[in-house]
Amino acid sequence: MTTTSSAPGKVILFGEHAVVYGRPALAIPVTQLQATATVSKNSRGGIWVEAPNINLSSELSQLAPDHPLAAVINSVFEILNITRPPACTIYLQSTIPVASGLGSGAAVSVAILRALSAFLGHPLSDEQINKLAYETEKLHHGNPSGIDNYVITYAKPVYFLKGRAIKTFRVGAAFTIVIGDTGISAPTKESVAAVRKLWETDQPHWEKVFDRVGEIVWDARQAIERGDGVELGKLMDANHSLLQEMTVSSVELDTLVEAAHKSGVLGAKLSGGGRGGNMIALVLKENASTLAEALLSAGAKRAIITTVHPK
Ligand code: MEV
Repeated sequence: MTTTSSAPGKVILFGEHAVVYGRPALAIPVTQLQATATVSKNSRGGIWVEAPNINLSSELSQLAPDHPLAAVINSVFEILNITRPPACTIYLQSTIPVASGLGSGAAVSVAILRALSAFLGHPLSDEQINKLAYETEKLHHGNPSGIDNYVITYAKPVYFLKGRAIKTFRVGAAFTIVIGDTGISAPTKESVAAVRKLWETDQPHWEKVFDRVGEIVWDARQAIERGDGVELGKLMDANHSLLQEMTVSSVELDTLVEAAHKSGVLGAKLSGGGRGGNMIALVLKENASTLAEALLSAGAKRAIITTVHPK
């Protein structure tokens, strides 16, 4: 018997970092990128984890208990009260670049949780999957808001507020985003810790900055609902400036954001943890390929075009 499950990547449209401090954020799934887990019976015995992308081939018992893959696998056995799991191989594949702000850690967790629980004959609910994936996110990056596991588990656009009921939002008119990957891996844990340090040194100042981000996110949600791309683009630029102030941009990200502006976009910003990873630009659909070319010429390692449709 074999079970397989896939989970998408994600981009944060607005509100990264401030979301850790209780402000809202907007995120969408990116279905062109997928993590896939396949679980099958094996005859050699034991539980094997095969993840060629990260050169990992190991028996589960050989991984440290706080290794994110071991933690997520063990959490399935725990929640299902399985003390003697059957011999199986968990094979992982992913097209989501690691440590690039596209949700690779959360997507791998969600794919494992779904495929392994189905293999064991007790598929977990989305609510259980979201909760367990959040626990593993803590191992990936310390103090996560939970936005990555949420948008990836439910695979739909979300307006997210940490610890509150999450809402999906209406999309008034289709809009197109081009994602530009700097190719620089930048663990979210480090940029989140850097912002924490800033906040600790001057909380009143940074709380005001996060408030401004919160207002931008709220306005952006309304602009998306009205289908107002021009306003949305301006809000992206404003959010990028605040992320620069938080010191989470980088020369490479700013170079791609500038290249996007030269190519005539509606707006552009870094997306996710920053200091590497990805930026996004809002563009008219007919200009998306030209923008993708411009980003590649400016040093992007890849450019992905994604359109969000009204639902
Ligand atoms: C990472 O995708 C987004 C951050 O806001 C961290 C988090 O929300 O946990 C930087």
